[in-house]
Amino acid sequence: HQAKLTLDPAFKVAPVRRRTFGTFVEHLGRCVYTGIHEPGHPTADEDGFRRDVLDLTRELGVSTVRYPGGNFVSGYRWEDGIGPVERRPRRLDLAWHSTETNEVGVDEFVRWCRKAGVEPMMAVNLGTRGIAEALDLLEYANHPSGTTLSDLRVANGAKEPHGIRMWCLGNEMDGPWQTGHKTAREYGRLAAETARAMRMVDPELELVACGSSSSSMPTFGSWEAEVLEESYDLVDYISCHAYYEEKDGDLGSFLASSTDMEYFISSVVATADHVGARLKSRKKINISFDEWNVWYLSRFHDTGAPQDWPVAPPLLEDHYNLADAVTFGGLLITLLRNSDRVTAASLAQLVNVIAPIMTEPGGRAWRQTTFHPFAQASRHAAGDVLRVEPVSPAYETKAYGEVPLLHAVATHSPEGTTLFAVNRSTDGPLSLEIDARALGGVRIVEATTLTDPDVYARNTADDPTRIAPRPNPDVEPGPLRVLLPPMSWNVIRLA
Ligand code: AHR
Repeated sequence: HQAKLTLDPAFKVAPVRRRTFGTFVEHLGRCVYTGIHEPGHPTADEDGFRRDVLDLTRELGVSTVRYPGGNFVSGYRWEDGIGPVERRPRRLDLAWHSTETNEVGVDEFVRWCRKAGVEPMMAVNLGTRGIAEALDLLEYANHPSGTTLSDLRVANGAKEPHGIRMWCLGNEMDGPWQTGHKTAREYGRLAAETARAMRMVDPELELVACGSSSSSMPTFGSWEAEVLEESYDLVDYISCHAYYEEKDGDLGSFLASSTDMEYFISSVVATADHVGARLKSRKKINISFDEWNVWYLSRFHDTGAPQDWPVAPPLLEDHYNLADAVTFGGLLITLLRNSDRVTAASLAQLVNVIAPIMTEPGGRAWRQTTFHPFAQASRHAAGDVLRVEPVSPAYETKAYGEVPLLHAVATHSPEGTTLFAVNRSTDGPLSLEIDARALGGVRIVEATTLTDPDVYARNTADDPTRIAPRPNPDVEPGPLRVLLPPMSWNVIRLA
């Protein structure tokens, strides 16, 4: 197969948004307990945080971390997680049928964020709770001192305010599985009034209203419109959530999952702009794509949630293969391509739970296949996002019709230009010609590829580097040409 694209700094979409490289830590399974936090672990620091996981989080290049849920937040009482640990209550977590010990709460989480060098992004409970509790949490977390709640934070050891800027107004309130699920009107009103009150405390906050839990929700489209009709002037973002998996052996459709993500984004942008036009507003609502990943959700539904309220059980521990990593890379390319309106995103999740980082309790931590596209994109995406005008052969998919074999985006800064490209072909390499004339006399300084003869090969704790980026030897200098192996994620750096 032959394909072609053009790199031209004039084809600018938007600046690279660092918040594209956000992730998510939920009180779910082993994400918090034995994930980021495990006091008895050999690498644990003085706060009980695993240093090996902190190191991998930094290597992954994470910008923001959303917390504490997810479905969990819709039943969460934030004040259970503050003060002396031995006095914290144990509670039923209805979302994941687990017991929450509350050993980690907002103060520990923010301390972990500071160590990891990431920005915290907090969700408030709009399922079982409302405006008052959201305000209490905001005052506890962000007010400097001199009130009962802020002084309580100081007394609990956090002298400086946490300074949390981004807040999610609930989670997936369109989903019937959500504790306190609401209609769009009910939620839109509550989100608006919660936002209005939170802005009275701090007008600089960045607030995210819940959009749809997937583009296949029955209320998709009308949900966004109704929620934004109620809250347009009071929020900054509408969220999108999307998970993809290979279904019924249909690898071709799975590899093209970013087609749905593109459709999702353009539909939500159109809906938000339509509401804005009707309200005669000049303001634009952007997208926080605050849950996205490959998730074998059908397997989770098959096995079901545990019934005996365990503490930190292994849940949603998907083991990703090469096909998952290539699909994942395609999703990341789509997020970058839409950086004009997708200005924040969170990979769901960070550790153990559908995650790029896996841990053994008491033991090793290792990188899943999906770790690499994320880490490379976070490291090398810089400056501006560029359209690349690809010309590519296409293939037929059951889910999306004709889809191009090549999916790509580039970023450009004074230091250089980086091309991120996926070859979706299962049967052959793609010979990619790069027209870089507009960049002047550049050459390829590095080309790596993530691939394997076995599309279902995975990394394991015993073989953690089976799937990792390797130098791509098939590079030609003039005209610039790179051979992208079948089923591969590729990073090509030019300077
Ligand atoms: O990320 C796992 C779950 O997926 C989250 O808790 C929820 O928001 C979504 O349905």
